[in-house]
Amino acid sequence: MHNPFRFSGIVSEPAFCDRVRERREMKQYIENAQNVLLYSHRRYGKSSLILKVFREVRNISTVYIDLYGTTHAGDFIAAFLKGISSLESQMSRLVKVLREGIRSVGLNFSVDPVTGMPTASPVISRPVQQKTIEELFAIVEKFSRRKKLAVAFDEFQEVAAYGGDAFEKTLRKAIQNHDRVAYIFAGSQMQLLTEMFNDRKRAFYMLAAHLPLGKIDTAAYVRWVRRLYRRAGRSIERPLVEEVVAMCENHPMYVQEFFFNLWNETTLSFEQLDRVQERMIEKRVPEYAYLWDSLTLNQKRALKLVALTDGKNLFAADNLDRTGFRTASQVTAALAGVKKAGILDKNKTWKIHDPFFKKWLMAAQR
Ligand SMILES: Nc1ncnc2c1ncn2[C@@H]1O[C@H](COP(=O)(O)OP(=O)(O)O)[C@@H](O)[C@H]1O
Ligand SMILES: [Mg+2]
Repeated sequence: MHNPFRFSGIVSEPAFCDRVRERREMKQYIENAQNVLLYSHRRYGKSSLILKVFREVRNISTVYIDLYGTTHAGDFIAAFLKGISSLESQMSRLVKVLREGIRSVGLNFSVDPVTGMPTASPVISRPVQQKTIEELFAIVEKFSRRKKLAVAFDEFQEVAAYGGDAFEKTLRKAIQNHDRVAYIFAGSQMQLLTEMFNDRKRAFYMLAAHLPLGKIDTAAYVRWVRRLYRRAGRSIERPLVEEVVAMCENHPMYVQEFFFNLWNETTLSFEQLDRVQERMIEKRVPEYAYLWDSLTLNQKRALKLVALTDGKNLFAADNLDRTGFRTASQVTAALAGVKKAGILDKNKTWKIHDPFFKKWLMAAQR
């Protein structure tokens, strides 16, 4: 039987686990044309969740727009066209509408001969871009009058980097008052995104309900993993599954990767788990070393400090001494830097959020 676990890219059944509550919540938003901001760390399952929910909703058309790697409004338009092309099969006239709409703003529009996807020439002037975007959203609105729509913009934080307010204002203006469309904004740079949606002065202020995506509960993992083993006529004991989930600190991608690696092992034991973990860390050494090397000296110290203290009593004099800090303000500045790099989180205490990076750091006694 082939390996049922997947640890890269979007996962769907049977590799998709749980998210029952989030699916229900998102469906309610979509059915009520309520915009949603979906955010989490990378590789927690935002994209997988969106597409899973899209497969589950009834009588609502869905559009998935991936903004990853887009750097300016022209890219945004091309990504939009690509996403919107999924509506074509549902309404053949849309293609015509789309072409006419786009031609009216003078945008070069062609169909990629290989993929059949529409592509737009990104070299268009700014006023034309703005008009095009308005036009595209008008098409969406027009479509929604016949059939409700859900439109997801994945990796939406890219938009914040396009260069400012003007673009965000154009977007806001284009989507407000669409009462039969639910827009889903998803992304992983939480600070950037929450600023975008929570800052009174920003265009997206109060535009969407927040849906933070956390980790997956141990109990759900246990049921899911044991079911996948049973389907293949095999079995795995509950304590082993629980141990793996704990080693991965419930991180969705790491749990998948761990079980992917474990699947090929014929004997299952706790010792086996340690070996799998070691191999997983080993494979990531270049990635972790690169990350480490990109940090300043004080940022490295701050990471060590958090690892050593488990985030508690960071500012105690002997903890500062142990890590080479002289003042608390040095620590504060360094922590902020590492948080910005997406390595640290702060809830009640500071935490290194990548469990395997933390293991590597501790093992290397850096
Ligand atoms: N619901 C889930 N069940 C099991 N594994 C998941 C789930 N969601 C995500 N994963 C794991 O995380 C990886 C990344 O998922 P993805 O949806 O691309 O996350 P994101 O969009 O948040 O970066 C997947 O390849 C899979 O290994
Ligand atoms: Mg994603």
